[in-house]
Amino acid sequence: MSILKIIEYGNPILREKSKEVTKISKKIKNLIMDMLDTMYHANGVGLAAPQVGENLRIFVIDVSDPSGPIDPLVFVNPKIIKKSGAISSYEGCLSFPKAYTTVRRYANVMVKALDINGRPFIKEARDGELLARAIQHEFDHLDGKLFIDHCRNRFVADNVLKKYNLAPIEVDKLIDEPELEEEIVAWEKAHPKEFEEQQKEIEELESKKE
Ligand code: NI
Repeated sequence: MSILKIIEYGNPILREKSKEVTKISKKIKNLIMDMLDTMYHANGVGLAAPQVGENLRIFVIDVSDPSGPIDPLVFVNPKIIKKSGAISSYEGCLSFPKAYTTVRRYANVMVKALDINGRPFIKEARDGELLARAIQHEFDHLDGKLFIDHCRNRFVADNVLKKYNLAPIEVDKLIDEPELEEEIVAWEKAHPKEFEEQQKEIEELESKKE
């Protein structure tokens, strides 16, 4: 097992559409194990194959408490079969060192995939939990999409990218999500206290980074 080099934003590999895995060979299993090693080494919650230079439809996630035992999830050839609700999510990506911004996500998702042994399984994540957001984030990588394409404010996102010497938002890649945005804004209006708490949490995370 080994730690792989993580490809950074700006590399065209991250914008390619990945191919389905036709057989979970020894080589694919080794790649998955290396992806897990790489994700844990980088203290990440998820990692997709294109991020280590392999345009294959594979991602790994672990949303368990970092101080407890590991709980790796492996998704091969995933398909999102249900999605609903909307949530504002403060996200980063191992391919964007330190750059975080607020993005739009579905609150609930159901995904069908194969595990490392080729066995099909279904995983459901609800109420905007970390797993729900991570699945969408990693799934996007397989279609050459990045979290910044879902940003709620492209000017804020651009400032963050600039701060960390990363290339600016690719305007043609921005994803139009008026229904999600509407639902998020309505929630924020209806829950001013929770919204304020969210903002505070983000500020705290930001100040910790400096
Ligand atoms: Ni990512």
